[in-house]
Amino acid sequence: MNRTDDISNLFNKFGASADSYLEFGSHFDYKEKSLALVPTAPVTVPVVEVDHPVIQISESALADSTNGIEAQLSPVNTPQPGAPLRHLLAEVALARQAEAQARNEEALRQSLPHGRPAKTRAHVIALVSAKGGVGKSTLASALTTALRLEGGQTLAIELDPQNTLQHHLGAQADVAGMGSASLKGESWKSLLVAGSAGSLLLPYGSVTEDERRTLERYLENDRYWLAGQLASMDLGENDVVILDTPPGRTPYLEQVLTVADQVLVVATANAACFVTLDQMERLLEERVARGQAPLCNYVINQFDSSRLFCRDMHEVLKRRLGARLLGVVTLDHGIDEALAYGQNPLLEAESSQACQDMLALSDLLKAQLKSMDVAESFAS
Ligand SMILES: Nc1ncnc2c1ncn2[C@@H]1O[C@H](COP(=O)(O)OP(=O)(O)O)[C@@H](O)[C@H]1O
Ligand SMILES: [Mg+2]
Repeated sequence: MNRTDDISNLFNKFGASADSYLEFGSHFDYKEKSLALVPTAPVTVPVVEVDHPVIQISESALADSTNGIEAQLSPVNTPQPGAPLRHLLAEVALARQAEAQARNEEALRQSLPHGRPAKTRAHVIALVSAKGGVGKSTLASALTTALRLEGGQTLAIELDPQNTLQHHLGAQADVAGMGSASLKGESWKSLLVAGSAGSLLLPYGSVTEDERRTLERYLENDRYWLAGQLASMDLGENDVVILDTPPGRTPYLEQVLTVADQVLVVATANAACFVTLDQMERLLEERVARGQAPLCNYVINQFDSSRLFCRDMHEVLKRRLGARLLGVVTLDHGIDEALAYGQNPLLEAESSQACQDMLALSDLLKAQLKSMDVAESFAS
């Protein structure tokens, strides 16, 4: 039976005639796509985090995924025959990084006791700010030089990856510091270096970006990391620790708020700093609510009394902060120049107004430390 018979039988079955049947054409091009998706040359998608499985997506799968067909994924550790050498080398480098990270994390875990450590006997003062470049490191250096309790020593610890405090204190640059010591589980005390005027400093030190991230991730998960490190330094009750921090809400700020007796917020008399005061106050209020707030004071740095605007800003800040505004440090280009020449401005023969302001600030903080001691001894 041929095709024409078929059609006339069909028409007859329904009582009609096939005479009126007209065929337009039997070839029809269906536009459906072939579903055979065999991956061709693999392309490694840039991977940022090394602690997640690395994923490869084939070029064809990537193209098809835009047509609503799922990308085909395969783990990288099944070697692709014929994969370009640079991909294989990248895999080896990633594996090496992951191994180093695991080693660092293990050293961090091992180096400190678990749980909440005993509080260090030393007094701890932290310099913090919402904005950078306001003078935290300058003041940290000045306080490390000037603030000493009888029978004790004052040491500075830099928690800012910018690692600049060593320049302010004239310490030997590029020595191993807090960052790498923490990652290797080494003692902080053995790495203190000598700064100007008999000061002691633990610089942040240089670390790779991966190491910095590993350390910061660890800090985010262990809120007592800094408390543990300070406890393990075995400091005395007449010792003072000055903590220098990076600007903004960082894992280091969270750590210092847990451990500091006093926090000094550094600001400049301008609108940019003024708008960030709210953030800082909110953060500290959260701590007050949790019963963990350190004593918190403010200082205005780089104050230019020759400008009416600066004087007005000073007035606004005084009204807002009241007694919490502990001091004002004058703008003095000599401070910047001293830093450039590697000198400590407090040791200059002629004491500028800014240096006198910093010394006055140091005296006030010292008086507060002593009154805190008295309050504690009454409480115990
Ligand atoms: N009172 C001041 N007068 C003039 N320059 C200052 C004063 N305080 C700090 N500086 C300069 O401002 C710059 C930033 O200071 P720094 O202490 O490094 O800020 P931060 O640690 O907050 O980023 C430095 O060059 C420093 O010398
Ligand atoms: Mg700094």
